[in-house]
Amino acid sequence: MWLPCGCTSKYVASSFARRILASHLHVSGRSRCNVAAFMPEAAGFEGVSGRAALRELSVSSSESFWAAVARHRLSWSIPFHTVQDCDLSRGKIKWFEGGKLNVSVNCLDRHVHTCPERVALIWERDERGSEMKYTYRELLEMTCRVGNLLRRHGVKRGDCVTIYMPTCPLAVASMLACARIGAAHNVVFAGFSADALAERIRDAQSSTVITVNQGVRGGKVIELKKTVDRAVESCPTVKQVFVAMRTDNPVTMTARDIAMEEEMLKEDVVCEPAVMNSEDVLFLLYTSGSTGKPKGLVHTQAGYLLYAALTHRYVFSYHDGDVFGCVADIGWITGHSYVVYGPLANGATTVLFESTPIYPDPGRYWDMVERLKINQFYGAPTAIRLLLKYGDQWVNKYDRSTLKTLGSVGEPINTEAWEWYHRVVGDGRCPVVDTWWQTETGGICIAPRPSDPDAEIVPGMAMRPFFGIKPVLIDTEGELLTSNNTSGALCMAQPWPGMARTIHNNHQRFIETYFQPYPGYFFTGDGAYRSEEGYYQITGRLDDVINVSGHRIGTAEIEDVVNQCPAVAESAVIGYTHSIKGQGVYAFVVLKKGIDVQEADLSRQLNGMVSEKIAKYASPDFIQFAQRLPKTRSGKIMRRVLRKVVESDLEGLGDLSTLDDPAAVQEIIQGHEKLLSKNRP
Ligand code: WTA
Repeated sequence: MWLPCGCTSKYVASSFARRILASHLHVSGRSRCNVAAFMPEAAGFEGVSGRAALRELSVSSSESFWAAVARHRLSWSIPFHTVQDCDLSRGKIKWFEGGKLNVSVNCLDRHVHTCPERVALIWERDERGSEMKYTYRELLEMTCRVGNLLRRHGVKRGDCVTIYMPTCPLAVASMLACARIGAAHNVVFAGFSADALAERIRDAQSSTVITVNQGVRGGKVIELKKTVDRAVESCPTVKQVFVAMRTDNPVTMTARDIAMEEEMLKEDVVCEPAVMNSEDVLFLLYTSGSTGKPKGLVHTQAGYLLYAALTHRYVFSYHDGDVFGCVADIGWITGHSYVVYGPLANGATTVLFESTPIYPDPGRYWDMVERLKINQFYGAPTAIRLLLKYGDQWVNKYDRSTLKTLGSVGEPINTEAWEWYHRVVGDGRCPVVDTWWQTETGGICIAPRPSDPDAEIVPGMAMRPFFGIKPVLIDTEGELLTSNNTSGALCMAQPWPGMARTIHNNHQRFIETYFQPYPGYFFTGDGAYRSEEGYYQITGRLDDVINVSGHRIGTAEIEDVVNQCPAVAESAVIGYTHSIKGQGVYAFVVLKKGIDVQEADLSRQLNGMVSEKIAKYASPDFIQFAQRLPKTRSGKIMRRVLRKVVESDLEGLGDLSTLDDPAAVQEIIQGHEKLLSKNRP
């Protein structure tokens, strides 16, 4: 792995970087009143006296707000001429047109000018106590070398590079190197199988892949290069695979493979940044939807970076000199926005967490907080629920006095976990921010902060919309719900700079999924409750997407794999409440007539297939074999009924009159009881 080294040649600023720095250093002079101290741009807004007024203005005068913030917080080589050109009814979203900039310059060069020796990355390696620090100067040099390497191997502006790596500095440098030379990146979570990786490489039409020989997680070696080898067999577009060395174990190299670190040594540490348009593609990131095919959401340069930076600064109350610890993997949007882009745009020290919450023991997070002096800790409820079960002593062992804000993301956080996080981890003194957002939104949209420092925070509620965000609730008839104490489909009434621009190669699907269900609004796919006080609480997905340990997965994706088994006639996959994972996977499987197999063998086979074709986390916790599934007369599986059975809510089965054969439900209930009794300890 590329090592930090204090003695490599000095960074030489490119002319481009120098030019943009000059504009960045301009700071507003009128920061006397309170709100201007909070957000310097606010000094330019007439009559805004407090945070609530600032929020109102960000929605009512969204263009002026975002224009001021974009001018102040991003370094432009050419300023934008149009703040926004959006039409939600047509799925058209454009921000800061006419503007030109480079994202890697915004994340690196400008900080190298002011504080080259500030630590940019702390790599908390799987091996406890072996963390490595990389300064902004070192990260820029590494990025430039990778940028030059990619360019020398023919990667051009507009190409898409697939990155299949664990969370490590070279993965960050690879992302930023793509940004530097104008290529898009497509990071694929390193827990995905060869088939899932291949599907994403093909859809993104990547000819270049970057990986490591082996990953290391929780003390186990993971054969990432071998997975890439299997994946590229079915990817004719792939011409080259760069292989970095995370471990010392050699791997078989083919004619397609390039030893990454060796080649990087030959490259210059200066790499001229491409001058990009605001709306050029920065990255694709695949996520699950309600069909079997994952969608490559597209984020662009300026709007995404600005939104990631602003939310990072204000939701977590990040200040210069803080150490920001987001433990997400870079393969998810949380890793993109709050491990890489948001923190680096703000010149922060950001932690790259390579391990698991319980390796080598359940004190890992808090040991890390003490050792790295982390000020903001951002993690997933599933890990909090898991650690809670191990007891307070694993937390109390370590000094957590550096912590100022605790964050939660990815799924609803139940009150018990929230309270433990607040009371035990944060010693009752750190605000806990339950942040709601999605791959599609680019950054946090609803969170308790920023609000006045003493404003109340209700456990388990995301509560307040961020600057420029206008949530609305809509009922099943499509009517806007204007009163409080009500629930409905969560939609956004206004565009914001961080939102996704399209689905790669499928703008029609983008429009159909997000803009057609409620014309004029962006539909999130989630339901929400708005309390008497006007606070938002997310109630869960309204579509067939489930959330396992914070990982989003479409039930249709799992069904597609299960249905490929020759013995299977049909299947239905349902999410159910799981005490640690948030949701577990429950599969109903109907076998073809005349098939004679041991159910236990077939269960093992189906689990293996799902791990092999998607990822381990998607593998069903329960498989119930059934003679038939409850269906409507038109042949649609009644998932609502299956969900109620799985949740053991027989009272709530509701109206069964549209069922083709009500006896099917009785069979399903009996089968479910049998399965549960077999699995009871
Ligand atoms: C869910 C993750 C409740 C939600 C950043 C959303 C949440 C999906 C929360 C997006 C939260 C995320 N409370 N549910 N605080 N945060 N979700 O794209 O269903 O991986 O639509 O982005 O996770 O998952 P994604």
